[in-house]
Parts: sequence; structure tokens; C-alpha cells
Amino acid sequence: NRVIGLIGAMDEEIELLLGEMTHNETIVKSGITYVKGSWLGKEVVVCKSGVGKVNAAVTTQVLIDTFGVTSVIFTGVAGALDPELQIGDIVISTSCMQHDMDVSPLGFARGVIPYQKVSDFPADQELVSLAAKACDGLGEVNYKVGRVLSGDQFIASRETVKVLYEELHGVCAEMEGSAVAQACYMNGVPYVVIRSMSDKADGSAHVNFAEFTVDSSRRSHVIVSRMLEGI
Ligand code: ADE
Repeated sequence: NRVIGLIGAMDEEIELLLGEMTHNETIVKSGITYVKGSWLGKEVVVCKSGVGKVNAAVTTQVLIDTFGVTSVIFTGVAGALDPELQIGDIVISTSCMQHDMDVSPLGFARGVIPYQKVSDFPADQELVSLAAKACDGLGEVNYKVGRVLSGDQFIASRETVKVLYEELHGVCAEMEGSAVAQACYMNGVPYVVIRSMSDKADGSAHVNFAEFTVDSSRRSHVIVSRMLEGI
């Protein structure tokens, strides 16, 4: 029995989902609200994790333990690191890594979690290709498939962008993906992260965030709904 966990970063997107779901049941656990129901003929659990890696990790573990999700899709916004990415473009994760994991004084490369095999958590190939197909179907949208970097920091400097892009080879930076990825990896649950670029992580002219959020929420909603047809 497949149960799909959908974590949205934006209220707007959650609301679009809730409006289309049926048989909804609301459960609050560890301060996070989960709505369980059916959408497009699939069993889904929808929630908002809140900001940062701890929120995302706890949310993901609850999705797995309490709701028995068999895959996790995370959607939200991110800062672009790859210079080819423009605001509004989409990134689909091939893997996620924590850029703020830094044990370099002990000789570990930046991003490497000491004493464990994997620090760059691979996304599920089937979910990645479903997401890519959904983006292809949108026509006008530019997207890249690549490494997502997460840390408990809003990146807002050109110097940091350069380091994250050149040293850690991330295409975008956000604050939750790697925590979702690691929790999924630890439990053997497939995941993918899908991010709309809201800025270039350089602290430059802030976009009209409210307007951007409405558009990107709508688009994420379309992408996830097309993905669900294939799951
Ligand atoms: N989410 C959106 N933009 C971001 C940035 N520049 N850094 C981290 N998370 C983000």
C-alpha cells in the first residue's frame, strides 16, 4: 500500500492541496499538523515542516513512523547557486547535502558527516524522472537536475554562493532538503526535493516574495499532481 508524504514549505501550496483532497483527517504531532486523505486516487499525507533542518527531520520521521509513508516529495523555494539558473526556474534534487556540516578541523571535507558512509543522500531516480517529466510537460519552465545544498542559514552573499557552487557543487541552497533526505535515507524511504528559485542567494534586490510565492505554489502544485499520476 503506497502512501505519499507531501511536505510543502508554503501555505499557499498546502491550501491548494487541501482544497482538492477528500476524506481528510487532521492529526497534530510534535507541533506539526498533518492532513491525511486521498488525492487523485492516491493516499497522501500533507504537511508543512516549518523552517530549518530540525523541523524537516522531525516532520519526515513522523511521516514515516506515524503515517507509514512509502515516499516523500518536498516542494518549496530556494536560492540559486548555479549561474545558469534564473528566478522562477526549478531544481529537482539528484541528491542533498548539508553545507553547514563542517568538521574540517578534524580533517573531514566540508559537508561530510564524520564516521558514516553517506553524506550526500541520493534522491530516488524514479521520483526524479517523474518530476522531470512533469516539468517537461509544463513547456515554458526551465529546470535543472542537480545537487541541493541545505543549511540553517539564508544565503545572501556572492562569496558564499561561489564556495557552495565551486566546492560543494550545489545548484541551489535551501534549509530543509538534506534533513528530509537523511531521515528518508536512514529509513530506506525514497524521496525527491523540488525547488523554485526565489532569489540568487546573493543578497541582491529582493523579489516580490508574496507574488512569487503564489505563482511558484501553483506551479509546484501542477508538478506534484502530474507526478502522482505516475506513482
Ligand atoms: N530559500 C530561498 N532562498 C534561500 C536562500 N538564499 N538561502 C537559503 N534558503 C533559501
